[in-house]
Amino acid sequence: MKILVVGSGGREHALAWKLAQSERIQTVYVAPGNGGTAQDNRLQNVDITDPHALAEFVKAEHIQMTLVGPEVPLAAGIVNIFRDQGLKIFGPTKEAAQLESSKDFAKAFMQRHGIPTAAYQTFSDLAGAHAYIDQVGAPIVIKADGLAAGKGVVVAMDLAEAHAAVDMMLSDNKLGNAGARVVIEEFLAGEEASFIVMVDGKNILALATSQDHKRLQDHDQGPNTGGMGAYSPAPIITPELHARVMREVITPTVQGMAKDGIVFTGFLYAGLMIDDQGNPKTLEFNCRMGDPETQPIMARLKTDLVSVLEHAINGSLDTIELEWDRRTALGVVMAAAGYPDEPQKGAEITGIPTETADCITFHAGTRLQQGQLSVSGGRVLCVVGLGDSVKVAQKHAYDAVDAIHFDGAQARRDIGWRALNKKH
Ligand code: AMP
Ligand code: GLY
Repeated sequence: MKILVVGSGGREHALAWKLAQSERIQTVYVAPGNGGTAQDNRLQNVDITDPHALAEFVKAEHIQMTLVGPEVPLAAGIVNIFRDQGLKIFGPTKEAAQLESSKDFAKAFMQRHGIPTAAYQTFSDLAGAHAYIDQVGAPIVIKADGLAAGKGVVVAMDLAEAHAAVDMMLSDNKLGNAGARVVIEEFLAGEEASFIVMVDGKNILALATSQDHKRLQDHDQGPNTGGMGAYSPAPIITPELHARVMREVITPTVQGMAKDGIVFTGFLYAGLMIDDQGNPKTLEFNCRMGDPETQPIMARLKTDLVSVLEHAINGSLDTIELEWDRRTALGVVMAAAGYPDEPQKGAEITGIPTETADCITFHAGTRLQQGQLSVSGGRVLCVVGLGDSVKVAQKHAYDAVDAIHFDGAQARRDIGWRALNKKH
């Protein structure tokens, strides 16, 4: 069987790596892929990004199924385009992807269906936004309505920062169309977790839980990033809380979308904030898997992902169960110098260890040219360690991180700290 994975990040490398382990797989194509997918001879990079051209490629190569990694092609309607041509693809339609591509859509949806989330209002006029900030006070959170590649959220600890964020989006148009409307919402305190499920339109299959690390530096300091590391499982999600999130957030979302006439298929990712009483609220929805959460999650998945994908596309997710490696998987992102604002490209990468049973290096912003790997993007690698405890998984990951070199590499040294604190 041939499968296509759309995307070029660490998430897509991990998905392709897992799919390629299936005995039923002949080739996994990755479009456009990266230096890591180029190096693996079970994977084949395809230099196409346009969804219509990809659909033609899929037909010409007789590829049976397509899996989409990132939000941008989903929001652009790749699933609609493929389905219109009778091609099997897993992901949400453009309409369903609005849960991620419009914060205002997601907030109005949650309010309508009684899904716990922060109180909010949406503005496109500057004066109204400034007045609302003064009325509510700080801390307060300003979010661009549209997709902004991780740059659209400002958690303002004081009023000046909040007013500046609104000016940046609504008046200076720094985020273009994505910032032409802003959601201003209540600040929520607590601990975050990533809750990701697969949805086939009706049935829901939860993946293992995980936790991301959004800030650039140790102790959650520095700017927000796409994610500097993640581990799975996330001990904050107890079995009781898991059941509650399914009942209060995930199931009403899937049913609410269907009620609103937009059937949801694909990965549904609820970014949760859990307060100190253990109550979950939804910070955001993504309509795809997380990056870097996918890397540790795929490292733990034992079930054949090809068969899971078939069930997801055919609407029979209720007939399967997923089997997980009981160990903890912990992924450390190595980012380029200058990330997240101005990542420097071109540095040569050396020292990546060979994959073992307890350490896998997934590539993201890497390029392979004449046998030499170099940095080609902000987040460069995600090194995943596995172990019977968080501590052991962390050691396996950092042993490999310490062996890898590229000029200006940035990596947090404390990935997994919340889980480690809980065990004491
Ligand atoms: P989002 O893209 O909506 O997940 O926001 C990015 C990050 O901003 C989240 O992972 C949180 O760390 C933070 N954040 C978003 N919304 C809130 C909120 N209402 N209260 C506190 N922090 C938030
Ligand atoms: N790691 C956060 C995200 O993928 O949105």
